[in-house]
Amino acid sequence: MSTPTQQKVLVLQAKQGEFALKTRDVPKPGPGDVLVKNVAVGLNPVEWKIQTWGILVEKYPVILGLDAAGVVEAVGEGVTSLKKGDRVLYQGWLEDDRANYQEYSLIAADLAAKFPEKVSFDQAATLPVAVATAAIGLYHPHGATKFVAPWAEGGKGKYAGTPLVVIGGSSVVGSLVIQLAKLSGFSPIITTASLKNAGLLKSYGATHVLDRNLSADALHAEVTKLTGGPVSVVYDAISTPETQNAAYGLLAAGGKLLVLLPEAVTETSEGRILSQVQGTVQLPHNAELGKALFRALPGLLESGEIKPLNFEVIPGGLGGVTTGLEKLKANQVSASKLIIHPSETA
Ligand SMILES: NC(=O)c1ccc[n+]([C@@H]2O[C@H](COP(=O)([O-])OP(=O)(O)OC[C@H]3O[C@@H](n4cnc5c(N)ncnc54)[C@H](OP(=O)(O)O)[C@@H]3O)[C@@H](O)[C@H]2O)c1
Repeated sequence: MSTPTQQKVLVLQAKQGEFALKTRDVPKPGPGDVLVKNVAVGLNPVEWKIQTWGILVEKYPVILGLDAAGVVEAVGEGVTSLKKGDRVLYQGWLEDDRANYQEYSLIAADLAAKFPEKVSFDQAATLPVAVATAAIGLYHPHGATKFVAPWAEGGKGKYAGTPLVVIGGSSVVGSLVIQLAKLSGFSPIITTASLKNAGLLKSYGATHVLDRNLSADALHAEVTKLTGGPVSVVYDAISTPETQNAAYGLLAAGGKLLVLLPEAVTETSEGRILSQVQGTVQLPHNAELGKALFRALPGLLESGEIKPLNFEVIPGGLGGVTTGLEKLKANQVSASKLIIHPSETA
C-alpha cells in the first residue's frame, strides 16, 4: 500500500486550551530521517501538565506525544541502518513532524531502536522516554553521577556493592532505573512504592521494596538499616517536594540526588549535589548517549535484561488521549504505561 498524503492528528489548539482531532500532511523524511507509521503511542504526565499549566510550549497549536513504536514506512537519503518494514521504538519531540499524537512521524534513524519479535508494539511503546530518562540520569558523561553505562566496556556489573535508592520504583521511569541499576551491578537496590507492586519491582531487580507512605524519618531509618549508613546516590523518579526532601536526607556528604522536576529541596548542605535530569535524547547534548543506548537496546530486549513494562490500552485511538491524561493527572495509574493506537482513531 502506498503511503497516504494526509493523516489524522491530535492538536492542542491553544495554551491551556482543548485537544482537537484534525488532519495534516504526512511528512517526507529528509536526509538521515525515517518516516514511521505509529502503531502504539505512550502517554506521559508532562502532557497533562502542558495542557493544564501552559508550561514548556510557547507556540500553539502544538502536537504532543513523546513515546512511540511503529513500522518504518520510508527512509530518507543516506539511511542505511533501517529499511521499510523495520519495527522501531523511539522518542517523539515537540515539533509538528516529530511528535507522536499522529499516525506518522519523523525520527532520526540513529535515534530509533529496532526491537525483537517477542516484544509487542504496545510493550515497545512503554520504553523510549523511560529508558532514556533513566539512562541519562545514571550514565551521562557530563551528568552528576557519570557512571559507566552497562553497554560500554567494563560497565556491566561495575558497581557491585554500591547501594542505590530509587524513589518511586513503580513509576515508568523508576522501573527502568531499577532495571539499568541491576545491569550496572548496584546492590542493594532499594526502592519505594505501594507494596502491592513489590513482586513486580523485585522482578526488575529491586532487592528491597519499602512502603512509599513511610515518613521521611522512617525511610531514613529503614535505608540506614539496609545500607549501614547514608548513601552516595538516590534517583528520585517522583520528585515532588516531599520526595525530594526525604531523598536528600538519605545522602552522604558528596552524595548525589537525581530529580526529574524542578529542584525543591528546602535545606541543602554543602557537598551534596542535586541534579535535574532532562530525559530526551532529542536535545543535542543527550544525542550521543541516546544513540549508544538505542544501539544497545535491541540486544538487551532480546536477552531479557531489559523488560518492557505493563501497559493499558486506552480505546478510541488519538481520541482516547484526553481520557488517558485525566487518569494520569488523577494519579490513577499504578505500575503501568498508558498506550493508544492511532489507527483506532474515529
Ligand atoms: N525530567 C524528565 O525528562 C522527565 C521524564 C519523564 C518523566 N518525568 C516526570 O517524572 C514523573 C514520573 O513520570 P512517570 O511517567 O514515570 O510517572 P508514572 O509512571 O505515571 O507515575 C505513577 C507511579 O508513581 C508512583 N508514585 C506516585 N507518588 C509516589 C510517591 N510519593 N512515592 C513513590 N511512588 C510514587 C505510583 O506508585 P504506586 O502505584 O506503587 O503507589 C505509580 O506507580 C512525572 O512528574 C513526569 O512528569 C520527567
